[in-house]
Amino acid sequence: MTEARTPASDSSDTRNRVLIFDTTLRDGEQSPGATMTLEEKLQIATLLDEMGVDIIEAGFPIASEGDFEAVSRIASVARNAVICGLARANFADIDRCWEAVRHARRPRIHTFIGTSPLHRAIPNLDMDQMAERIHDTVTHARNLCDNVQWSPMDATRTEHDYLRRVVEIAIKAGATTINIPDTVGYTAPRESAALIRMLIESVPGADEVVFSTHCHNDLGMATANSLAAVEAGARQIECTINGLGERAGNTALEEVVMAMKVRHDIMPYSTGVDTTKIMNASRVVATVSGFPVQYNKAIVGKNAFAHESGIHQDGMLKNAETFEIMRPEDVGLNATSLVMGKHSGRAALRSKLRELGYEVGDNQLADVFVRFKELADRKKEVYDDDLIALMQDTGTNA
Ligand code: KIV
Ligand code: ZN
Repeated sequence: MTEARTPASDSSDTRNRVLIFDTTLRDGEQSPGATMTLEEKLQIATLLDEMGVDIIEAGFPIASEGDFEAVSRIASVARNAVICGLARANFADIDRCWEAVRHARRPRIHTFIGTSPLHRAIPNLDMDQMAERIHDTVTHARNLCDNVQWSPMDATRTEHDYLRRVVEIAIKAGATTINIPDTVGYTAPRESAALIRMLIESVPGADEVVFSTHCHNDLGMATANSLAAVEAGARQIECTINGLGERAGNTALEEVVMAMKVRHDIMPYSTGVDTTKIMNASRVVATVSGFPVQYNKAIVGKNAFAHESGIHQDGMLKNAETFEIMRPEDVGLNATSLVMGKHSGRAALRSKLRELGYEVGDNQLADVFVRFKELADRKKEVYDDDLIALMQDTGTNA
């Protein structure tokens, strides 16, 4: 099978290098019921770090002692990734965040405030008061740390004029990354791209910072919206393993990374992620969070590389590219699985029997195939043990 093309990672490609910012431990953990222990967070952070994630958002240090401890410990063990903590737009949050991340080799403070009309109403700030708050808090963060990310929460429902104004203020106050959140998963790909393009083209100083996209999946468009933002000039994607996150979740890391790898022909962007580590990270996050991965989830679902229908299995046995656009080993899976069920055909049955050590001639295969179909009609899936029992029943040994 043709290898999914891996983008060049040399320095000539830096303009098209997309930073992967993983927030499994912060936004992911905010999913009701997904709380993780310190040890579990350290395990996931280590996997992310080894996998080549550029920035790990390790938590929200002021939220609890546990969160503070987790961010501090992750900061001290991470070898490669930037370690980031979240802080609201006030000095106490920012100071606490800095205390937690400061021992990282590469620390980042991420501070945010809701800028849409609905969100401005919560702290009851008018536009000018909020602009001043943004100036003061970003300046404060930048005095502590030279790597500061600022987010206008609910950016996609913020008036464009106001968004331009506050983004400019944050840049002038020293933000180095401007993250544009689609907090409620409301935007659509064309709009996501237009918003990023508008900001990059019209905000003074935009060329000196990295624009980032942070999408939620309420309408199932988080991956498409993130990729559209990249096409418009964003160079950081915020995402989580398995798309874990509040409500319908965040952009799934495995989806955006594999989309840029498999469709590099039309999305010529590179990441630093070792994709062969994806499946393991997915399994660990599913186990630790207690959120199982749906069977048909793109890239990491149990069925993403499984085939049951006879036509598909026959095609796969002849040439895997017939029904698979990426190789299982590229995401860390050993092999495609041909699931034996009522839709399976003779070719797959013969291949499976061979795998189990049975060589059958055409006549015997015809006989076994009839029995197999009877069994498959009664069972959802026919397992290896079922086939072995069936072969023993016909008096055949492996
Ligand atoms: O969805 C959101 O707006 C967030 C911000 C804190 C970045 O998670
Ligand atoms: Zn979010």
